[in-house]
Amino acid sequence: MSKPKVFVSRVIPSAGLDRIREYCDAEVWPEQMPPPYEVLKAKIADKQGLLALLTDQVDPELLDAAPDLRVVSNYAVGFDNVDVPACTARGVAVGNTPGALTDATADFAFALLCAAARHVAAGDRYVRDGNWKTWEPRGHRGVELFGATIGIIGMGRIGYAMAYRCARGFDMKVLYHDQYRSEKAETDLGAQAVDMDTLLRESDFVTVHCDLNESTVGLMNADAFRKMKKTAVFINDARGPVHDQRALYEALRDGEIFAAGLDVTDPEPIAMDAPLLTLPNVVVCPHIASATFAARNRMAEIAAQNLIAGLKGDPLPAPVNPEVKPRA
Ligand SMILES: NC(=O)c1ccc[n+]([C@@H]2O[C@H](COP(=O)([O-])OP(=O)(O)OC[C@H]3O[C@@H](n4cnc5c(N)ncnc54)[C@H](O)[C@@H]3O)[C@@H](O)[C@H]2O)c1
Repeated sequence: MSKPKVFVSRVIPSAGLDRIREYCDAEVWPEQMPPPYEVLKAKIADKQGLLALLTDQVDPELLDAAPDLRVVSNYAVGFDNVDVPACTARGVAVGNTPGALTDATADFAFALLCAAARHVAAGDRYVRDGNWKTWEPRGHRGVELFGATIGIIGMGRIGYAMAYRCARGFDMKVLYHDQYRSEKAETDLGAQAVDMDTLLRESDFVTVHCDLNESTVGLMNADAFRKMKKTAVFINDARGPVHDQRALYEALRDGEIFAAGLDVTDPEPIAMDAPLLTLPNVVVCPHIASATFAARNRMAEIAAQNLIAGLKGDPLPAPVNPEVKPRA
């Protein structure tokens, strides 16, 4: 029997790729850069499965070019690059990788928090630029973490993991804002559900862990930054469009907030002449929060399982649109 044909849009870890190759007739995009949209469209024309990355736009036009497509397995927990209703309408199952990268991403949010609050990246640049002459009593001062108040926007898996690190490791008071109550965070960590204004006003650190959706695009705008403490630090390792990047730049430039740590920008990659990059009080990383060996392997395993289940006509282990029963 011939194997189902799939397109894998980048070389993912062998933990998943080997399984895909075993079960499928897999064409793997070998380049560092993603396949251009038109190329992706042509590649999936005769495929039953697509393993996509967040840099691949899966929209109605792309789906219409792939009449045999049964499953889109996204190698990420976020799936804002996939038009899920369009997939559902065409009977295409969509999978993601929840849980696999929760700890890695929360670790990284915490790393950004330390880096931004305590000038870690700026200090390193200072040394490398040959500016370290002596110990300076008034130089390089940052804000303290222990016992501070953390405001978590989006108390889902990663939000909770970040809150856990802050509460258990650094004795922080946890405030959160979400559309749902998290009894777990409230019971385990003493977290308090508050409205956005209270969170912004009272938090020493504001960290974004919501998914990108209509209600979160531009959530952190000029008005939001103005409400934060002047000593506050802003962290985003969720999705770039949740913050208004111009407003963030102005808030950092004008001292409305103290510092920021970003793993995600809008757009990605950030332009090298972006005003934000002229500021000393922002740390910017290239969307690497899930980049641990363990997390990327687990993501590859789950993505492979989703892809193969979809091709077999089985329910996906991590479905985004479980109402779609994959076609066998
Ligand atoms: N930087 C990275 O590499 C990286 C890695 C993993 C995940 N992420 C991002 O992190 C996001 C969260 O992942 P997760 O696994 O915790 O997802 P999750 O679904 O468990 O949590 C998202 C939470 O955000 C909440 N939310 C949605 N809209 C909101 C709003 N308007 N206001 C407040 N809260 C709102 C949801 O109710 C949910 O509790 C992903 O969607 C992805 O975009 C980024």
